[in-house]
Amino acid sequence: MKGMSQKPIWIQNISQLVTLASDKKGPRVREEMRELAIIEGGSVWIENGLIQDLGTTREMILKYIHRAEEADIVDATGKIVTPGLIDPHTHVVFGGSREHEFEMRLEGASYMDIMNAGGGIHATTRKMRTLSEEHIFNQTARRLDLFLQHGVTTLESKSGYGLDLENELKQLRVMRKLHEKHPMDIVPTFMGAHAVPEEYRENPDKYVHLVIEEMIPAVVKEDLAKFIDVFCEVEVFTPEQSEQVLLAGKEYGLIPKIHADEIEENKGAYVAAKVGAISAEHLLKVSDEGIEELAKSGVIACLLPATALYLGEKPARARDIIDAGVPVAISTDCNPGSSPTISLPLVMNLACITMKMTPAESLCAATYNAACALQIEDRVGSIEVGKQADIVLWDVHNHQKLHYIFGVNHVKTVWKKGVKVVG
Ligand code: NIG
Ligand code: FE
Repeated sequence: MKGMSQKPIWIQNISQLVTLASDKKGPRVREEMRELAIIEGGSVWIENGLIQDLGTTREMILKYIHRAEEADIVDATGKIVTPGLIDPHTHVVFGGSREHEFEMRLEGASYMDIMNAGGGIHATTRKMRTLSEEHIFNQTARRLDLFLQHGVTTLESKSGYGLDLENELKQLRVMRKLHEKHPMDIVPTFMGAHAVPEEYRENPDKYVHLVIEEMIPAVVKEDLAKFIDVFCEVEVFTPEQSEQVLLAGKEYGLIPKIHADEIEENKGAYVAAKVGAISAEHLLKVSDEGIEELAKSGVIACLLPATALYLGEKPARARDIIDAGVPVAISTDCNPGSSPTISLPLVMNLACITMKMTPAESLCAATYNAACALQIEDRVGSIEVGKQADIVLWDVHNHQKLHYIFGVNHVKTVWKKGVKVVG
């Protein structure tokens, strides 16, 4: 369907057209995150995969009545329209599942205990290395269908379940194929430094060397990634190793991201600031000084409240982070261990319930600021003339309700590049 042209779509009588339009460039901070630029009684004209025009239904009828016959008209009475949601942090390309670890954790084992005993990321790595590309592709495609059904039209996806050259490339190639064949747009991140593979347990520096000297050049040669990420964590990669990996990636043109201060405070926010990362992820244990560092350097905080909930941890301090002037994005972290969910709307609910973000802040964090964390805000993340027509129609009559009623999929229709893919 990619690139297909079709009839214009004219959505009318939208109870709230939540555009998130703004003249300000770059990620939104503090009260800017609450400015949703809502048009009550709105209407949008979509043509050639793009948003051609928008306004109130009254204005749009005057302008477009002469073309009404050629369009597919959608009556959105009692419903809202938002930009397609953007998930800026996932590990969605994987095979198998780890429900037995879920049970182990319920009985008291910790996430890191399981990983150190050869489970966790290592278990999924064994699957990546043994299952066929086709199997991984098909399993992931089903997950992407579910993401779309929950209103997500673009997501970031990390490698890091190969942990050797061949299988990191395999995972990234599956990602590329999915991007080409599935309606979902996938923004790829190389995360060879997701864990120290078991065969390098005694010599992690040697693995870091392999990531830097062999994997990064090979990934860049095939143009398989836009970003580079590293799991900077006690017992995984040190702040020094993390910095080395991110700077090496940067030299090759990859943009740094970092899993920072997730399980323990480990100077992750400092590394993010020092290397000029676009975003720092998780931040459950970030210190006040770490937050200051992020604010000073303009790093986006990507918060993952479903992961905190699932690991039984306290959520990130979103209020302190927002008050410090750090732009916030939110994400599912979709992965088979710490957050086996595809529901970004659930994460939006949790952002409010567990992190005390307002519904407006949460929506901004899952659309425009998420786009900024992927450096694609010139194309998606808000409803503005000329942008890609990635649009969701929700069966609620105001945006607060999207966050207020949880555990329900409110999606009615999803258009990806102007093509209806759900509903
Ligand atoms: O973001 N922290 C590291 N990576 C993932 C978990 C991956 C897994 O358990 O498979 C995370 O929580
Ligand atoms: Fe993650």
